[in-house]
Amino acid sequence: MIEVPSCNYRIQVPGKLFIAGEYAVLEPDQQAIVIAVDRYITATVSSSDKNIISLPDIGFDQVIWESEREKVRFDHDDVKLRFVQHAIQIVHQYLYEHDIQQRPFRLMITSELDDKSGKKLGLGSSAAIVVAVVSAMLQQYREKITISNDIVFKLATIAHLQTQGNGSGADVAASTYGGWLCYAAFQPSWIHEQMQQEMPVKELVAKDWPHLHISRIKAPSHLQLCVGWTGDAASTGPMVKRILTLKETDESFYNQFLQASSSAVSQLVKSFEMNDHQGAIASLTENRKALVELGAHTDVPIETVELRKLADIAENYGSGKSSGAGGGDCGIAFVTGEQQVGLLRQAWADVNITMLDLKVSPNGANYEVV
Ligand code: PMV
Ligand code: MG
Repeated sequence: MIEVPSCNYRIQVPGKLFIAGEYAVLEPDQQAIVIAVDRYITATVSSSDKNIISLPDIGFDQVIWESEREKVRFDHDDVKLRFVQHAIQIVHQYLYEHDIQQRPFRLMITSELDDKSGKKLGLGSSAAIVVAVVSAMLQQYREKITISNDIVFKLATIAHLQTQGNGSGADVAASTYGGWLCYAAFQPSWIHEQMQQEMPVKELVAKDWPHLHISRIKAPSHLQLCVGWTGDAASTGPMVKRILTLKETDESFYNQFLQASSSAVSQLVKSFEMNDHQGAIASLTENRKALVELGAHTDVPIETVELRKLADIAENYGSGKSSGAGGGDCGIAFVTGEQQVGLLRQAWADVNITMLDLKVSPNGANYEVV
């Protein structure tokens, strides 16, 4: 086993927002556009005589864990800790497979991703927390192993999938890589198969994952992205489950939706490539239509009354839609010019939609020595 000297680190991981391609991105080779936002999860790692995790924002001052060979055991069992537990387990196993002798450490995690009153904004806190835990654990051994965004992304994605059971991983990608991304998902069933065959984590991470595609894109220079918060919290997992049943119950409608989404997202990507903000505004409307039809057909409240107001008002200035699974959380708008942003902010405020002062975070997960 290799001994490595200790050091303290602070890791910052941005939250995320979906711009386009939601639900469709769960299928192979369907693209989504996601961004990282400038609100962060912060993880601080320091040396300790025990393995301790503190998550004061969700009410855990001290969770202690121990390891025996490749397995870890926690002194708490709470669903709120599942993402963190799976992240610790997968990285522990990864380091163990690299013959790294792990030292106990204290990990403190704090979040800016929720509203000050503690309300969920839908900025991807579970994905960002998983990325933060993975980066924090790996950084401690940076002298001994290669750390790259691809490795962090894959480890975090496995842990996220083990906890949530479904998901495209686009949120994990945004938190890891930062900026504007065009994303196509790996297939969760493929990951499950590899894990069932007990493939070492090290090997799974080193493989090319079929269908996975992540590339950076650049928004048109005159395009302004605005984010509106409805004040209602939404839960992604159950909505995704309901939409996925459509594959069995009405395949032809499902395929129609996939085609409509894919055409809107490809147009959006093309308008980004051509620095065409008007094209981007129009493509966002096309994506809204596809999602509204999907919601109406399945009775899944993707565009709630609040999100409909948000998007209808945005269309007076540019275009708008729900972000992510919908059902609450945030919606987005594309407009041009500061003046329009001011007008939209006021018009949203009149119907109780709060414009959030968010910007795209060019950085993904990053660390500093403290
Ligand atoms: O609501 P959010 O931001 O968690 O987004 C979910 C987006 C889906 O496409 C519906 C699911 C996914 O994992 O991509
Ligand atoms: Mg959401």
